[in-house]
Amino acid sequence: MRTVLTQLPAAQVEVDALAVPVAAGEPLGGAAAELDQALGGILRDILERGEHRGRVNEVMPVVPGGRITPRRVLLYGLGARADLDGQRLRFAHHEMVRAARSYGHSRIGVLRGGPVTEGQVAAVIEGSVMGGWERRSRQTGPRPARLDELVLVGFGNVPEPDLQKAQDVGEAVNQAREWTNMPANELTPEALAQEARRIADRHGLEMEVLGPAELKAGGYNLILGVAAGSEQPPRMVRLTYRAPGVHSDVRLAMVGKGITFDAGGLSIKTADGMVRMKGDMAGAAAVLAAMDVIASRRPPFDVLAVVAATENLTGASAQKPGDVVMGAGGKTVEILNTDAEGRLVLADAITYALRHAATHVIDLATLTGAATVAVGHAATAAISNDDAFWDLVDRAGRRAGDRVWRLPAYPDYRVLLASKVADIRNSYYGEAGTITGGMFIGQFVEDRPWVHLDIAASSWNANDELTTIPRGPLGSGTRLLIELAELISAERR
Ligand code: BES
Ligand code: MN
Ligand code: ZN
Repeated sequence: MRTVLTQLPAAQVEVDALAVPVAAGEPLGGAAAELDQALGGILRDILERGEHRGRVNEVMPVVPGGRITPRRVLLYGLGARADLDGQRLRFAHHEMVRAARSYGHSRIGVLRGGPVTEGQVAAVIEGSVMGGWERRSRQTGPRPARLDELVLVGFGNVPEPDLQKAQDVGEAVNQAREWTNMPANELTPEALAQEARRIADRHGLEMEVLGPAELKAGGYNLILGVAAGSEQPPRMVRLTYRAPGVHSDVRLAMVGKGITFDAGGLSIKTADGMVRMKGDMAGAAAVLAAMDVIASRRPPFDVLAVVAATENLTGASAQKPGDVVMGAGGKTVEILNTDAEGRLVLADAITYALRHAATHVIDLATLTGAATVAVGHAATAAISNDDAFWDLVDRAGRRAGDRVWRLPAYPDYRVLLASKVADIRNSYYGEAGTITGGMFIGQFVEDRPWVHLDIAASSWNANDELTTIPRGPLGSGTRLLIELAELISAERR
């Protein structure tokens, strides 16, 4: 797939489909109005009659009838201008490209217009590239057309590296979605480690993989406990990017939950609760996909990508509710519910990152079903111990169109993690499930600036009624991490 710019008038661009943005309640402007003239006013007529109302996810093919070079014109909605943040803008383009592909179009032109300005070209490219991802790659029948070429019409002079970066970001998000969608019989913990190996090789990164023996030697008993019920050996993976030249005083650790299948362990899930649990490694997917882009951009500070990969099953040696386990950080944990496994593997993964001199920690995890209750699929829920680091992450999320919403970590809730037999317990049934899940993880960061992103809902839209958010895996957190590295780089250059 390639992204190109053209300075040709819209009517002369050689594409299968020329996509024209429509903001709800607004007439066509600029290049779109010019195009409409070449078409004898049919677009304006469609809008004036209310046949297209500019809603996100509303894509209407128009047959131009030989008067212009593009074979088809697609009107696509952006929703109301006032509602249009970076995430909605990207998702609107995702839906437009998906519709175009379903009509058989492979070369798609996007016309600048409406509220879409030149400064938003990255969002247009990222969203459009995301629309090219195909969830049905394992189906043998006919599939929608592949996105081969994205032509930007009327966007002025965008530097080539900017185009390439936006395309890379979009493809990284799609890689995270692909991993998230991979069935657990394909994407085992070892297979996930192999994916990390490919990234390390591509960029010459230092890589370490801890298997059962090394985990035992390092005292990583929390991840070992989760892995005990499975035949698949666990893998703790670390990729290290070192800033060229001087010693870096910032070392950002991106830590991902990599449960390749979560049956819940002996605190077993229901059949319904288990169906999507191949996606319980979406945090690891985002971390690895982001590392691929970050390393290619050679930032002036160190970055660690740490992935804690294992299955959570019910085998004969599975850990049992009531077990007490000492993690690598030296704290004892009472495991009251084996289905609260994400916080266990993350605790050890964070200790591992601290042993490798992390100064800042951001963890991504499909941690709690309660995140869907709290914020739903439209945003990632967050917890942090540091306002300044949080501000940076929040800014990265806004710039990247990858929403995060911070929940309060009230000290009152600390008692909910207290155990009668160990230092801390891993679960509590009752209130504030997403918050207490995050606060558990916060017990292991040893006062480093830390942000926890609970992507349980945002990494996979399971709600068919939420039509402005693409269904299925979304790769949430990937764009945010890449942008976070850009912001830290900008501060240091
Ligand atoms: N992987 C699940 C969380 C999840 C649920 C992700 C639904 C995506 C969709 C996690 O390991 C889990 O089981 N969490 C428990 C925690 C509880 C036992 C404290 C939950 O949310 O019920
Ligand atoms: Mn679980
Ligand atoms: Zn889980």
